[in-house]
Amino acid sequence: RVVYVNGSYVPENEGKVSIFDRGFLFADGIYEVTAVINGKLVDYEPHAERLERSLNEISMAWPCSKAELRQMHEELIKRNKLDEGIIYIQVTRGSADRDFKFPKEAKSTLIGFTQVQKLLENPNAPAGVKVVTIPDIRWARRDIKSVMLLAPVLGKQRAYEEGAFEGWMVEDGKVTEGTSSNAYIVKDGKVITRPLSNSILAGCTRRSLFRMAKEEGVVIEERLFTPEEAYAADEAFLTSASNFVLPIVEIDGKRVGGGQPGPVVRKLREIYLDEAR
Ligand code: PDD
Repeated sequence: RVVYVNGSYVPENEGKVSIFDRGFLFADGIYEVTAVINGKLVDYEPHAERLERSLNEISMAWPCSKAELRQMHEELIKRNKLDEGIIYIQVTRGSADRDFKFPKEAKSTLIGFTQVQKLLENPNAPAGVKVVTIPDIRWARRDIKSVMLLAPVLGKQRAYEEGAFEGWMVEDGKVTEGTSSNAYIVKDGKVITRPLSNSILAGCTRRSLFRMAKEEGVVIEERLFTPEEAYAADEAFLTSASNFVLPIVEIDGKRVGGGQPGPVVRKLREIYLDEAR
């Protein structure tokens, strides 16, 4: 693999950053994950806009121009002959002596790499996946796509150990989102999902899904929902850049919609893939 580090394209074993990098020492950084299908970026603009927003929210300078960022994505696809998979990029506040305050001199670190992944023929899509609910122990600014991912790491591991694909995090009795995805239920043909706030990440897949659902006449209601409501839902699903729309068939050991992907989620997944292809 060829990876990108601060302006250079190098073989992956030569891609290095300092041990003083603030991403490493403080998780003082942000990231984006963008899907690639048939060598083309999916939802690139929303990801670039969200990156800009995350940078602004934590007062971090752009590491390059917007055009260069796009160019870096295209170069990584080309140099790695990436047909299907993801591109991960990360920006940190650079490296400096360890001090919590922003360093005066440091220059942002920008890295990027590709990862091959089967997205169209996601092996989990036909049968759907299981989720378990877990407490949401994250910080209060989940709208920022921060690399500070210890809570999601522990949550995903716990879900995995319980035989589930994803953990749905619960706060004040309501589902916030998945450890790395947004959460939805379907009741009486209507899609229900949490409204945007500091409590969840504004998913780019979510944003595109809203547009497509509108075009298809599928109603989306933005409101909080409880795990109990989810158990009794007709369907459930999650969205993320690497999963698009993924059916959920079991929540906390309770079958949802007879334990099979329902018509609304199957349709939304199809529409999404059609546009990504
Ligand atoms: N995760 N919520 C959280 C907490 C996430 O980490 C993600 C994405 C999403 C979905 O956002 P999007 O549709 O823009 O991918 C929601 C990425 C894929 C990850 O960390 O790998």
